[in-house]
Amino acid sequence: MIRSLGLVSALALSAALGACASIPSASIDAGTPVMAEQTRPAADYVRDVHSHARPEIARVVHVALNLSADFDAHILSGTAALDVTSEPGATEIILDARKLDIRGVTDASGGALQFTLGADDPILGQALTVRFPAFRAGETRRIVVAYSTRPDADALQWLTPAQTAGGQKPYLFSQGQAILTRTWAPTQDSPGIRQSWEASIAAPSDLTVVMSGESLTPQGEPGPNNQKIWRFRMTHPVPPYLIAIGVGDLAFQGIDERTGVWTEPSQLRAAHDELVPTAAMVDAAEALYGPYRWGRYDLLVLPPSFPFGGMENPRLTFATPTIIAGDRSLVSLVAHELAHSWSGNLVTNATWDDFWLNEGFTVYFENRIMEATEGRDRALMLQSLGWGDLQATLADLPPADTRLKLELAGRDPDDGMSDIAYEKGAAFLRTIERIVGREKFDAWLTGYFERNAFRPMTTERFLEDIRTHLVTTRALEDQLMMDAWIYQPGMPSNWQPPVSNAFAPVDAAALAFAAGGPASAIPWAGWSTQERQRFLAWRPPVPPATGRWFTDAQLADLESTLNLRNEGNSELVFAWLQIAVQHRYQPAVPTLEHFLTTQGRRKFVLPLFTSLWGQYEWGRPIATRLYAQARPGYHPVTTGSVDAVVGRPQ
Ligand code: BES
Ligand code: ZN
Repeated sequence: MIRSLGLVSALALSAALGACASIPSASIDAGTPVMAEQTRPAADYVRDVHSHARPEIARVVHVALNLSADFDAHILSGTAALDVTSEPGATEIILDARKLDIRGVTDASGGALQFTLGADDPILGQALTVRFPAFRAGETRRIVVAYSTRPDADALQWLTPAQTAGGQKPYLFSQGQAILTRTWAPTQDSPGIRQSWEASIAAPSDLTVVMSGESLTPQGEPGPNNQKIWRFRMTHPVPPYLIAIGVGDLAFQGIDERTGVWTEPSQLRAAHDELVPTAAMVDAAEALYGPYRWGRYDLLVLPPSFPFGGMENPRLTFATPTIIAGDRSLVSLVAHELAHSWSGNLVTNATWDDFWLNEGFTVYFENRIMEATEGRDRALMLQSLGWGDLQATLADLPPADTRLKLELAGRDPDDGMSDIAYEKGAAFLRTIERIVGREKFDAWLTGYFERNAFRPMTTERFLEDIRTHLVTTRALEDQLMMDAWIYQPGMPSNWQPPVSNAFAPVDAAALAFAAGGPASAIPWAGWSTQERQRFLAWRPPVPPATGRWFTDAQLADLESTLNLRNEGNSELVFAWLQIAVQHRYQPAVPTLEHFLTTQGRRKFVLPLFTSLWGQYEWGRPIATRLYAQARPGYHPVTTGSVDAVVGRPQ
């Protein structure tokens, strides 16, 4: 991260010169029956405890946003026109809304409709109930909600020019998953209620608007008040958490004819060079599990406050700049977000209780893409790193939270989402693969995506599908232990850790160093990023009573010999700082300060603040000081989590 930002600015000029003017335009594949999802019977909808919607009575099938972005007030304002279908006789529809100022609701011809905003539930936000004359069978009607967002909308981060790489122009981006879309668009915000959408966005004419749909105005069109209008559409029905927007000083460079990178001009060269493997990954993914159904696959590399590593917004994955390491060593994140184009975006968890269907399948698929593009050894290393994370998570969580199928009623879905969905989910699928054989497993998985494309999926329907198409004998059923994997805590007895000795030399080096050997004996220069990650994640098998497994002298030796103060790979900086904080190693505090104040990725920021907090009289004053400095630059997703640990600075 530290070095990569330096590298990026050094390349600013050449990037600007090399910026490709051509804008992506390939459209969505036309072969898919777009309306299939929208005619699903009411009984198909399962209860989502994280939405006020009652889709079995009335549901939104299409959203048309017409919004203007006010960068002075930090407000999006305009209308959301919703196409609604309903059971015959229904007289109301319930939408989700949070922190929205609703000016009025009308029918298609402008006649006022009655609406009420319910109490603000701390997790769900408000129910926006719109009343209308009784529906006739088979009817679709349009309702139009006039509204504005609030400056503190949780999905949106409005960046000042100083918070961008270019430093000249403001920036806006959204993050919808899990239940944040309702803070910028009033609709039924449930992953089981798929909606096609279109949008018309007015923004200052010196900015570019991108969205997670097909662009209809690649250069923007002249609009009033020195604005440009940008139009988009998504003809496939998608869950609302996948509607996303980015607005800023953006440039594009293609990788191949269907992939490319958007980012600020000064970052474009470095981002593009890092992400070149994307094109081969899309090919590899298609060869594994069938056609890519969304037309283009582009990436938007965001400013450093982007709270996630990546977000699988259709046609346009959003990614943190902390993956720009300079050596393409962190591209498995792209494989992950790309895999969601099947597991997640095509076949979608019906509720957040079924989150493992999105993330577990995706981690499995991600690793298959990495195996295809970088080979089996690299894939096994990545699996082993995930296995280490899973061990830590299993040790950490209450047993009830280690089941794949979650019960998140009454909780923020964000709290229930852990490595269990990701790594236990993937371990489950690897177990099935090992027992039935890869060929049969792959054939089933290809069919699963095909049979269930553009539909929500529950854990129970997954079981039905696999029992119909793959697990058809009693013997196999007994061997697989699927119910135990899904409904029981911990790891079932048929689980096997990844078989690899790829890390054996790394573990040996870590042991030798812990036993007092010099850092110069660590073959760091010859190691890949994954081997270095493993080294820095190593912990003694029996934790020392002191809680410290290295002396200050050892840490100083490590820091200087491995040149950790100048490390540019964000994953390595993070892993090193975790060690440093856990040892109260004062000389690393400037590195910590730099890291926490120059990026806001929750996966890095939250564990570091949590570790600092766990170091009482040493760590808490540091945490408080650094958070006061860093918080204004963080996204609401990150501050929401860190506030709960450190508290809100006064
Ligand atoms: N869809 C997730 C991000 C997410 C999950 C956002 C839950 C909101 C709620 C995305 O695909 C993801 O898993 N990102 C990971 C990176 C990945 C390589 C494991 C991340 O951001 O760290
Ligand atoms: Zn994911």
